[in-house]
Amino acid sequence: MKTVSDHYSAVQMRSDSWSGLQQTTSELVRKPTGKSAAENMKLISDYFDALSVTEEYWAFPGVHAFDAMRRLFDHKKFEDLEFSVRRVARALSSGAYRRRSIPLDREDKDNEEHDDEALLSPEARALSKPYFEILVVDSLGEQQSRWLRKSIHDMRRTDDAFHYESVVVSSLEDALIGILFNHNIQAVVIRPGLTLKSKNALPILKKFLARVGEDEDVDALKPEEYGPELCRLIAKVRPELDAYLITDRSVEEIAGMELGLCRRVFYNQEDFTELHLNILRGVQSRYSTPFFSALKEYSKQPTGVFHAMPISRGKSISRSHWIQDMGAFYGPNIFMAETSATSGGLDSLLEPTGPIKKAQELASRAFGSRQTFFATNGTSTCNKVVVQALVKPDDIVLVDRDCHKSHHYGMVLSGAKVVYLDSYPLSEYSMYGAVPIREIKHQLLALRDAGKLDQVRMLLLTNCTFDGIVYDVERVMEECLAIKPDLIFLWDEAWFAFARFTPTYRQRTGMNAANNLRAKLRTPEVEAAWNEQVKRIDMNDNKALMENRLVPPPHARVRVYSTQSTHKTLTSLRQGSMIHVNDQDFKGEVEQSFHEAYMTHTSTSPNYQIIASLDVGRRQVELEGYEFVQRQIEAAMSMRKAISTHPVLQKYFTVLAAGDIIPEEFRESGVESYYDPEQGWTDMWECWSRDEFVLDASRVTLAVGGTGWDGDTFKTKILMDKYGIQINKTSRNTVLFMTNIGTTRSSVAYLIEALVEIANELNDLYDDASKMERLSFEKRVKTLNEDLPPLPDFSRFHSSFRTDDVTPEGDIRRAFFLSYDEDNCDYLSLEGEVDAAIKAGREVVSASFIIPYPPGFPILVPGQVVSTEILAFMRALDVSEIHGYRPDLGLRVFTDESLGIKTNAKKVAAE
Ligand SMILES: Cc1ncc(COP(=O)(O)O)c(C=O)c1O
Repeated sequence: MKTVSDHYSAVQMRSDSWSGLQQTTSELVRKPTGKSAAENMKLISDYFDALSVTEEYWAFPGVHAFDAMRRLFDHKKFEDLEFSVRRVARALSSGAYRRRSIPLDREDKDNEEHDDEALLSPEARALSKPYFEILVVDSLGEQQSRWLRKSIHDMRRTDDAFHYESVVVSSLEDALIGILFNHNIQAVVIRPGLTLKSKNALPILKKFLARVGEDEDVDALKPEEYGPELCRLIAKVRPELDAYLITDRSVEEIAGMELGLCRRVFYNQEDFTELHLNILRGVQSRYSTPFFSALKEYSKQPTGVFHAMPISRGKSISRSHWIQDMGAFYGPNIFMAETSATSGGLDSLLEPTGPIKKAQELASRAFGSRQTFFATNGTSTCNKVVVQALVKPDDIVLVDRDCHKSHHYGMVLSGAKVVYLDSYPLSEYSMYGAVPIREIKHQLLALRDAGKLDQVRMLLLTNCTFDGIVYDVERVMEECLAIKPDLIFLWDEAWFAFARFTPTYRQRTGMNAANNLRAKLRTPEVEAAWNEQVKRIDMNDNKALMENRLVPPPHARVRVYSTQSTHKTLTSLRQGSMIHVNDQDFKGEVEQSFHEAYMTHTSTSPNYQIIASLDVGRRQVELEGYEFVQRQIEAAMSMRKAISTHPVLQKYFTVLAAGDIIPEEFRESGVESYYDPEQGWTDMWECWSRDEFVLDASRVTLAVGGTGWDGDTFKTKILMDKYGIQINKTSRNTVLFMTNIGTTRSSVAYLIEALVEIANELNDLYDDASKMERLSFEKRVKTLNEDLPPLPDFSRFHSSFRTDDVTPEGDIRRAFFLSYDEDNCDYLSLEGEVDAAIKAGREVVSASFIIPYPPGFPILVPGQVVSTEILAFMRALDVSEIHGYRPDLGLRVFTDESLGIKTNAKKVAAE
């Protein structure tokens, strides 16, 4: 039997224990060869012990059924036991218990054929009532608890939209464990009898309590405060849940307390009808999809189309002699839902007043923003909308240089003066990390010294980075606000929409940090901390500001924007993205310009299917985002473990751990890796709550230099062509595997199988190789792992695009448009001409964006001085795709004349 420490998660442990129990009881009954009966009995007893702790928190099979099974075991009724365990294990893995009651008694055997849920058609599944569980928190005896569950159960009506079962736990701590362990829970009913402490001592469950945060001191609470406190803590760890407080305290007392997101307070403990109706209404409000439903309704209405879109209702297809296959492939519904109408129950994305508006409001609730806007053309567009809405020509924007190209183009469009920030380099893997807080502070202070702080408008960072490096968002904002209290933050969360739905990740999202900051800034503690800081350090002393962790002033403004490619990490059709706003000055200052920017970039024919999918994707995360993200992280963790422990794989592959990707100085917690074959699992919470940077565990970077193939070849020639495995990003010697909410344990297993096969083939090749071949292989491995070019920093903008030599901001827009006139540009070949020009003392200035792919960020931007380090890097990159570079012509650079520089020859002539 696996030990508890073999499991990364309690959910995995539970499901493995049930299948282990099933297998062992079946062996015991069928007596195949293998373990002795005594050995099997011991194993079964161990499984029962493990499950006795977990089953308290789940409605199916429920503690009573579980105890009954244990009694069967004690009374040696093994056949009956085997039958019940098999039914439970199958129902758990197929999800059948969500659709009907599962008889566990052998007498009810005739139901067994329904067990095969796989036979259910998608339509039949869609028609079945969704199922969830509620958690009732009250310290009750067995009889009372049974009565309570039955009383709630008796409230069911056949026309209820959902059905649910209840789980009863007794304490505040058990309730927290319950909502973090049991993802089926959608509502919590807190009754006055709850106690504080859990009797549960299992570390894998107890660790859930850490998610609540170290700053929460529940021990000091009085019993009458447990209920309200639990409401508040639920809002903190799983804000999507509904909490109902049943109390006997007076209305006045309760009114003065912070109750998190508590939906209702009840005074009558026995009013189950009201409670039942509220629970259903609460879930319905998350389930409802205003736009998707409107579109479905619309598609059913008869219409005559005298408008655009012949494809609407499939008319141009069904009458066709040549494109019928398109109709057959997509099926009719998509065309029934295609229309350019904005009335008839539908809405306009550009000026929403109906179901799109409502859908955006629900998304705003789900993602914790104040306003949310849908986009049907990706985060590339969202980024440009936000930048255009907030940045005027000559405003200074601090941008991480290796951010997505949409930001660089956004800077061109807005006319911002750009200060590029350098990320820390990871030269061994040809990758950049993220921008350290000290670099950001340093740039802000330099601008302050130059008297330009008023011009600074925005800080723009990518969170998380492509490679999975995640900022301490709240800290970055706090420290920056201490220097510039009205700074606007744009967090590019193209890869991080899922992060909201698990507490560890949520704390490092733009919206959560903004909400925390808003709440914090109102507290007397922040005022006291600021006053203390002002007394302790001289706020004009840059050195002191660099050395200290800064707190923001109470008058700081919280102005935060996040852009998310919903389609990258959650359910949405391609290009479905969202802009989340949490800006205290949005209504007063930004709304109009935001509208204009939105109009500039949004099509007048936005795709309805994308909007509907954003709406449904939001429903999903509000109801099962927690479960899916947990599973995703579990899948990534098992991948880490499998690769780092498999003996064949270790020779050629290494999973990069936090310690490899994040330098020690940014890892205060000292956590080096999430899994270590000797020490087992590390609780992610430790580093996520403290470190300057953490690694998103759902992305697994694999160093593949040991195979002798570079990242790109490994991706295309091996993974894609031979195994049909798709990945996105590579570096010179790494490939990145991204899990998502659709990743299953079997897809991970397939990947591991493929890697093992590749490693075995390499072993065979090596065994059969001649001496020369071996030497050549070893040389390739060495080149890939050791001969790596240093990663260059942003050099600088040429002085003709700068305001002065004091601070680095550059006018990228002027440089960009200067190059529109071919006469201003020249081409220098990479083979010698550029170097010769630099050697001769010429400042060679790029006239274009040069974006090698991979890594996919500009190595040169218009107006940037070309340095020898950049040239060395470009040459060593050895990639086939360099956007903006014409191998036949060379590097596009500005002529000296266009930069206002007189060349020697012309100077002589002029003189
Ligand atoms: C960090 C980052 N931001 C923005 C984008 C653009 O997103 P979209 O593809 O939704 O336009 C990407 C795309 O890869 C990205 O990696």
